[in-house]
Amino acid sequence: MGARHVGYGVKDAHYATVGAALLAMLSETLGSAFTPEVRGAWTALYGAVETTMKAGAAAVPH
Ligand code: HEM
Repeated sequence: MGARHVGYGVKDAHYATVGAALLAMLSETLGSAFTPEVRGAWTALYGAVETTMKAGAAAVPH
């Protein structure tokens, strides 16, 4: 999926922007249910996907 995103024009730096937007959306919609534990779990999940996608992107020509 990271490799396909290279074809969409996505750069590594864009992942931080999307991750921040995801966390902001979750905070806004979950309100008080967005506890530090929940934030930590989403941050870890996004980070794992981000790392994997960047590795896939790095493996294809730009
Ligand atoms: C964890 C991070 C991300 C996930 C899970 C994700 C997931 C997806 C999926 C499932 C698709 C459908 C096509 C495909 O599978 O190749 C897609 C398309 C796309 N994504 Fe992402 N994406 C992520 C990050 C980003 C970022 C950082 C950008 C750039 C700001 C981005 C821009 C796009 C664009 C432009 C498309 C094509 C939309 C279209 O032409 O229909 N994505 N993404």
